[in-house]
Amino acid sequence: MLALGIETSCDETAAAVIRDGREIVSSVISSQIKTHARFGGVVPELASREHLDKIVPIVDEAFTRANVTQNDIDGIAVTIGPGLVGSLLVGVSYAKAMAFALNKPLVGVNHIEGHIYSVCFENPPVEHPALALIVSGGHTNIFYVPTPGQYKVVSRTRDDAAGEAVDKVAKMLGLGYPGGPIIERLAREGNSKAVKFALPRMGDNRPDFSFSGLKTAVTKYVRESGLQPASNGEEPSQGIKDLAASFQSTVVRSLVTTMERVAKEYHPQTLIVAGGVACNGALREASRMAAERLGVPVYFPSPHLSTDNAAMIAAAGTVKLQAGERAGWDLNADVMLRLQNLEVEDAELRKHVRYRL
Ligand code: KG4
Ligand code: ZN
Repeated sequence: MLALGIETSCDETAAAVIRDGREIVSSVISSQIKTHARFGGVVPELASREHLDKIVPIVDEAFTRANVTQNDIDGIAVTIGPGLVGSLLVGVSYAKAMAFALNKPLVGVNHIEGHIYSVCFENPPVEHPALALIVSGGHTNIFYVPTPGQYKVVSRTRDDAAGEAVDKVAKMLGLGYPGGPIIERLAREGNSKAVKFALPRMGDNRPDFSFSGLKTAVTKYVRESGLQPASNGEEPSQGIKDLAASFQSTVVRSLVTTMERVAKEYHPQTLIVAGGVACNGALREASRMAAERLGVPVYFPSPHLSTDNAAMIAAAGTVKLQAGERAGWDLNADVMLRLQNLEVEDAELRKHVRYRL
């Protein structure tokens, strides 16, 4: 089965053609980083305008690189949420028009489910139950996945997403956008023990995340220590590098200790770590060590599949297309779309049979 994936939920216009849900035939991503960099974050109105300019050439390019025509595909999968409404609508409208014109089946995909499927191209099949840490600029969640397509949110962020906190701290330190790769580079040259940041504790002891307090702690540290933010184009000071390393290690510790705690409760067969922040080498290393302690494999997408892309949307969509799911012409964007279809008791979930993806 050849599926076309379309992704426009935030600031990447992406299209991909994949075969049988596991092989990438082509994957084209047009990033808007240059447009938003000077604002230190994504400007929704600019994002949707750029998607409008890019959607046609990017989808065409995906077909050209795949060396197939529109008529060769068996279905279309498009991100319907969560994301920015104007951005999502560009992809959804285009996918609907294309499906209608070509008379091809169409399915809507949850962007977060796409991130979970991003590991399916370069890793062995996922053994279930699985635990998926999805960590990006917009989301920080751990999902329990007892069987393919079933999701229970077991951890969520109470405030900022991890990537959002990283981007805001980078902006505060005068480092540019997106902050993740810059913080990671500087952290390699800094001392992660230079500044001590505490991990947040939830009053109700739930395994949730909170990054807003850490962001405030960084602001307070900068103010009290008199550390100067980096100025345009100059190599940041050692103080900034030490702060970047300390901050990054705190974010990683928070993510991985929580994942390990949840894993001890849910006994997954596989750990998945995906989303833009999963590009981070320190997070990968700490996750690998946690997986080793737990005695289970951990799967990551390679960096170009960690950040937003359409191959992961096509992969999640292929499962739906193969199951006979079809969207109607009333398919719409849903900005707040959630990924949770399991409300059953934990004890009930653990009784599930083990499937392969
Ligand atoms: O998945 P993604 O492309 O978009 C969303 O769905 O949000 O994730 C983008 C986020 C940004 O916050 C960016 O700073 C972060 O991923 N990121 C990183 C790294 N590369 C990207 N964070 C930490 N380390 C990195 N190397
Ligand atoms: Zn994403």
